[in-house]
Amino acid sequence: MKAVVINRYGAADVLEYREVEKPAINDDEILVEVYASSVNPVDWKVRQGHLKVITGRKFPRILGCDFAGRIADVGGDIKNYKTGDEVFGMVSALQGGAYAEYVRVRPKNISAKPKNLNFEQAAAVPLAGLTALQSLRRLGKIKQGNRVLINGCSGGVGSCAVQIAKSFGAQVTGICSAKNIEFSKNLGADNIIDYTRENILERNETYDIFFDAVANQSFPQIKKLLTKHGIYITTLPSSIEFIMSMLTSLSRGKKLKAIFVKPDAGDLDYLKNLIENNKLHPAIDKSFVLSDVRQAHLYSETGRVRGKITLRIK
Ligand SMILES: NC(=O)c1ccc[n+]([C@@H]2O[C@H](COP(=O)([O-])OP(=O)(O)OC[C@H]3O[C@@H](n4cnc5c(N)ncnc54)[C@H](OP(=O)(O)O)[C@@H]3O)[C@@H](O)[C@H]2O)c1
Repeated sequence: MKAVVINRYGAADVLEYREVEKPAINDDEILVEVYASSVNPVDWKVRQGHLKVITGRKFPRILGCDFAGRIADVGGDIKNYKTGDEVFGMVSALQGGAYAEYVRVRPKNISAKPKNLNFEQAAAVPLAGLTALQSLRRLGKIKQGNRVLINGCSGGVGSCAVQIAKSFGAQVTGICSAKNIEFSKNLGADNIIDYTRENILERNETYDIFFDAVANQSFPQIKKLLTKHGIYITTLPSSIEFIMSMLTSLSRGKKLKAIFVKPDAGDLDYLKNLIENNKLHPAIDKSFVLSDVRQAHLYSETGRVRGKITLRIK
């Protein structure tokens, strides 16, 4: 099969589109024929070696977390899926494997593909959508009427978070730059702060949830913007913030929480339902064929992506 592999960590030119062996599955696994994938910043962070303490030095490594496609084979223990089923899902960034014509997964990694999306649109959702959902619902315990702030509301995670927060009946303020104001309003944001003109720290407002998808704020500074039991959720915690998150979990007041997105079939089902009920729609900025993955990574690395970048495989 064709796949994108790296044989060492480095710049985008370490990405190789080439022939590799098709994965074999065990009894508790499923083989998915991948029709589309998408790029997440963690893909190029793994490629650059930022996570090498965890990802190790075993090469070649196939990158990619998100996929949508058709089941090509199921292991003997799999009861709830069959060959031909249309699915979408994610593998963890530490595992990778989605930038390929076939990916080997477990049932926790997948759900039925939303009926109203094509494969490319469906592949744009899993990692970003799960990050937003697990942050707001599991960590933030979001409720109707909550005042929610989303920093980076125009990115992959932020664009899902705005729509998911609105689906809970929250009042959403998004932070983005001037060129993304219209886009963010169309996602459903009630208020927008243009970070190129205004510093959020100078606002005299409080939020029940401050979801920092950019992770360029710090809890000690943000605290004054939180309600009495407000929660600050960050996608990239520093080591100090780890300690703070443990300390604040023991207190009754304002909390700092860090998200580490996990594949979860129940959460994917939840996203599928939101999508089929027209509460969540993936925003695709640019689409590339898998063999052009280097350009896709370079674009993601600019930090200026509006919504998602997809990779077409079939
Ligand atoms: N811990 C986890 O489990 C987890 C999961 C998913 C993602 N993440 C991390 O979370 C971060 C966001 O992921 P993503 O997929 O959303 O990235 P992304 O799609 O690449 O984010 C790009 C967006 O960020 C916006 N942005 C850049 N600087 C900003 C600023 N100072 N203020 C407000 N918005 C700003 C950009 O808008 P402008 O062009 O308008 O600036 C752009 O729309 C990444 O670092 C990623 O690695 C962590």
